[in-house]
Amino acid sequence: MNYSGKRILVTGGAGFVGSNLVKTLASQWPDADVVVLDAFVNGHFKNLIGFTGELIAGDLTDPRIMSDLTGRKFDVVFHQGAITDTTVSDQKKMIEVNTNTFSSLLRLCAENKAPLVYASSAAVYGNSPSPNRVGAGEIPENVYGYSKYMMDQMTLRYLNSSPAPSHPVVGLRYFNVYGPGEYYKGKMASMILQLALKMRRNITPRLFKFGDQRRDFVYVDDIVQANLKAGAAGISGIFNAGSGVSRTFNDIVAILNEALNTDHYIEYFDNPYPFYQNNTCAHIEDTKAKLGYSPAYTLEQGIQDYVRWLNVHLTDAGPIA
Ligand SMILES: NC(=O)c1ccc[n+]([C@@H]2O[C@H](COP(=O)([O-])OP(=O)(O)OC[C@H]3O[C@@H](n4cnc5c(N)ncnc54)[C@H](O)[C@@H]3O)[C@@H](O)[C@H]2O)c1
Repeated sequence: MNYSGKRILVTGGAGFVGSNLVKTLASQWPDADVVVLDAFVNGHFKNLIGFTGELIAGDLTDPRIMSDLTGRKFDVVFHQGAITDTTVSDQKKMIEVNTNTFSSLLRLCAENKAPLVYASSAAVYGNSPSPNRVGAGEIPENVYGYSKYMMDQMTLRYLNSSPAPSHPVVGLRYFNVYGPGEYYKGKMASMILQLALKMRRNITPRLFKFGDQRRDFVYVDDIVQANLKAGAAGISGIFNAGSGVSRTFNDIVAILNEALNTDHYIEYFDNPYPFYQNNTCAHIEDTKAKLGYSPAYTLEQGIQDYVRWLNVHLTDAGPIA
């Protein structure tokens, strides 16, 4: 894996995952030429402080932006830009932004014969039983999950088209990502950040009864790793990107208590949602075997690293870069 000297487009590069990817590219391959495209919906300039490459403030749905990109040379594209508020119920808007814009990126990468790595989501599995495997239980429960499911369907159709595409396309189904850079997602930030913010202010953490719902929480550094490996693997396909382990919300509070040196008890309350995933867990054997992905962080290690970051970077007015 070597991105040295490559010209790289990162859509959604001012957002949570995108900005972490941009920072890793810049620190590991300082001569990589990184171009960020973001509409600054959730993306924030503070996530990009230190970034010295080209920044395009623009919308993926704007034909002028997309036609400006056509004809430009890119060696690899990481597509993170999307409506990420899973509670948005405007079906047309969600599908326009998340799904329909994807065809322009496929075209751009086809012209460049460049690998395209894009963010899909565990939301495609809806409430199907875990471990979640690609190709099984793909029954999204909300339009966000559906918009990602349809990106995956476009990818599969594209990969099976004739003549076969001459560049790799990799969809990564992220599970519950947490880590530095997610502050500006507000209510869509991970439960780990929401709970940490409360517990740091000495507010009792509250969980749906009885905190035993399970999720595959994955640290953002591992998601960056998955993207970088996918962009260099030279193969196509759809893969899960998680930790491969499911943990409870009670676990998060216990680990945060340890990391923050606090002793909060948990207040439980009734879950008001008729639809709620009880257990997600990524089956990642294929991701490991075919992309060389190897998650480096347990939940304990990820939260400890994140709390160290919060202690240095988070002020009452929000994070400092
Ligand atoms: N964070 C997670 O737990 C998670 C889980 C599954 C999938 N994903 C996917 O990962 C990707 C990155 O998510 P994130 O967590 O970094 O969220 P994020 O909201 O921080 O990042 C998305 C970025 O896309 C930008 N954007 C939104 N609409 C746009 C548009 N029309 N044109 C250009 N840019 C636009 C936003 O401004 C933002 O910077 C998304 O595609 C998301 O669906 C994230």
